[in-house]
Amino acid sequence: MTDASYEGTMSGYQKSLDKLGLDYLDLYLIHQPYGDIYGAWRTLEDLYEAGKVRAIGVSNFNPAGLTDLMLNNRIKPMVNQIETHPFNQQLAANELMQAEGVVHQGWAPFAEGRQDLFTNSTLAAIAEKHGKSIGQVVLRWNLQRGVAAIPKSVRKERIAENFDILDFELEESDMQQTTALDEGKLLFVNHDDPAFVKMLFSRVLPD
Ligand SMILES: NC(=O)c1ccc[n+]([C@@H]2O[C@H](COP(=O)([O-])OP(=O)(O)OC[C@H]3O[C@@H](n4cnc5c(N)ncnc54)[C@H](OP(=O)(O)O)[C@@H]3O)[C@@H](O)[C@H]2O)c1
Repeated sequence: MTDASYEGTMSGYQKSLDKLGLDYLDLYLIHQPYGDIYGAWRTLEDLYEAGKVRAIGVSNFNPAGLTDLMLNNRIKPMVNQIETHPFNQQLAANELMQAEGVVHQGWAPFAEGRQDLFTNSTLAAIAEKHGKSIGQVVLRWNLQRGVAAIPKSVRKERIAENFDILDFELEESDMQQTTALDEGKLLFVNHDDPAFVKMLFSRVLPD
């Protein structure tokens, strides 16, 4: 959902339902922290209270924005979906969300393969030790640190591989070695960059 306003969110919800052929949604998120997010959030609260969505949340909110939304509304976000992978682990955001009971959902858990994630030597050694793939190690590491990772694949065998992470457990040393890969820098969009916000709204709101 990108049209952040009360009415835009309500009509966006109905359009999504129609396209999907459903009568409720499991999860509905505000995509980005811009525009009339308070109007959008009130729609999500109403939809949730009416039983039309089972969970509501946000995406790409920084810890301050998430805290503001939590403190100033009836219902606090149940999920915040943010860029999260071994090279950008979002440690501070994770700590806040764990403390506040907001699910940390991680997009691009494989960094879309950037920085040679699928041949990283640290991850390869852990994967070999457990007889698993690097992708499975990354997903298991997320699971063990309380992050709900959402990997994407168009290949049936990889989708199955990405689900198959419940039959092994990473040791503390595996977790620590993976934590040591963190560079704390975004590899995709910086939602705190004014130039990005201007670019986004120059497309939807022409002068
Ligand atoms: N909220 C937001 O602003 C936001 C932003 C970006 C993305 N997302 C969402 O996050 C989800 C995933 O993100 P993403 O697609 O950007 O990144 P990703 O899951 O980190 O990477 C996807 C890439 O990894 C490959 N892959 C998947 N499983 C693999 C495996 N087991 N072994 C090797 N390669 C594998 C895929 O190739 P194949 O498809 O060829 O297998 C694809 O090229 C999507 O649902 C997306 O919509 C949300």
